Amino acid sequence: MGYVAELNTGNKMPVIGLGTGAPAYQYEEIKAAVGVALQVGYRHFDTASYYGSEGALGASLTEAFQRGDVKREEVFVTTKLWDDEHDDPPAAITKSLKHLQLEYVDLYLIHWPLRLRKGYTLPPKEEDFLPLAIKSTWQGMEKCFELGLTKAIGLSNFSCKKIEDLLNYCKIPPAANQVELHPMWQQKKLRDYCRKMKIQVCAWSPLGAPKTPWGSNVVMDNPVIKEIAQKHGKSTAQVVLRWGIDKGVCALPKSFNKGRITENFQVFDWCLTAEDHEKMSKLEQRKILRGEDLVNSTTSPYRTIEELWDGEI
Ligand code: A2P
Repeated sequence: MGYVAELNTGNKMPVIGLGTGAPAYQYEEIKAAVGVALQVGYRHFDTASYYGSEGALGASLTEAFQRGDVKREEVFVTTKLWDDEHDDPPAAITKSLKHLQLEYVDLYLIHWPLRLRKGYTLPPKEEDFLPLAIKSTWQGMEKCFELGLTKAIGLSNFSCKKIEDLLNYCKIPPAANQVELHPMWQQKKLRDYCRKMKIQVCAWSPLGAPKTPWGSNVVMDNPVIKEIAQKHGKSTAQVVLRWGIDKGVCALPKSFNKGRITENFQVFDWCLTAEDHEKMSKLEQRKILRGEDLVNSTTSPYRTIEELWDGEI
C-alpha cells in the first residue's frame, strides 16, 4: 500500500492513488488499468461523476472483490459532485455509487466551487452559470456523510479563502482539498493552511498532465527535475511524485499504461535529499489549468481568474 495519510476522520488514505480522468468510451482501458494497479499495490482510486470512469472503475473493483484479491475495506475510493449536481448531493452520490457498484465511497468532494445548469456543455456559456450556494451544497454533502454514503467529505479546487469561509459555518469540516499541485505549482500557502486546519491536500495532475489538451509538458520536461532524476537513477515522474509525498501531499497520477502505472508506484523505497528539495523550491511557478473558461463579467460568480482563485494565482 505504500505510505498512508491519516484524515481528520481517522480514516487512512494511501498517498499514491490512480487518477482515472478519462471519458467513458475508454471503458475497457480504464478497467484494465485499475486491474493492473491493484496487482501493483495501489489501494486508492480517484474518479468523478464528470469523468465517466466510475462504471469501469466499479466493474474492475467488483471483479477483484469477487476473486478475493482485495476486500472493499482495503480500497480507498474517491468520487466527486459535478457542477450541475449541487442542488442534491445525496441523489448525485447515489447515482455515482450505482455506477461504482459500491455501498459507500471513502471520500466525496465538491469538484469545483461552481454551479452550472443541467444540460450545459463545456466550456460553459453565459446562460449556464447559476448563483453559487456553497453553504447549501455543503449541507447536502454533510447529509451524504450522515447517511453513510461516504466515509468523508471534502473539496476540490478551493482556495484558502473559500475554505476559511466554509469552516465558519460547516457542521462537518472538510477532510481533504484536491487541487492542481506539482513542482511548477507548489501551492505552499494552501499546503500550510490545510495542514493547520487538518485538511489533507491531494494533487490532481501531479505530473502536469503531459500529452493532454488541458495539461502541459513543463513539469516532465523541466531540466532541473530531469537532472535530479538522472542522479538518483529514477524517472522524472518518480522524482515529481516523491517530491509530493515529502510535502505531505497525496498524489493521483493518471496512467493506463502498465509500465508507467508500475513506475509511478515505485516511490517508497528511496528519497530525495535536502539539496534536491532546495533546488526544486526555486522552480518558476505557474498554474497550468487556470480556469479562463469559468469566469465572465456577467453571469459567472467570478469575473476574473484572480477572483476564482481569490488572488492565490
Ligand atoms: P499514459 O496514460 O499514456 O501513461 P497527470 O497524472 O499529471 O494528469 O498526467 C497524466 C498524463 O501523464 C497521461 O498522459 C499519462 O499518459 C502520462 N503519464 C503518466 N505516468 C507517466 C510516467 N511515469 N511517465 C511519463 N508519462 C506519464
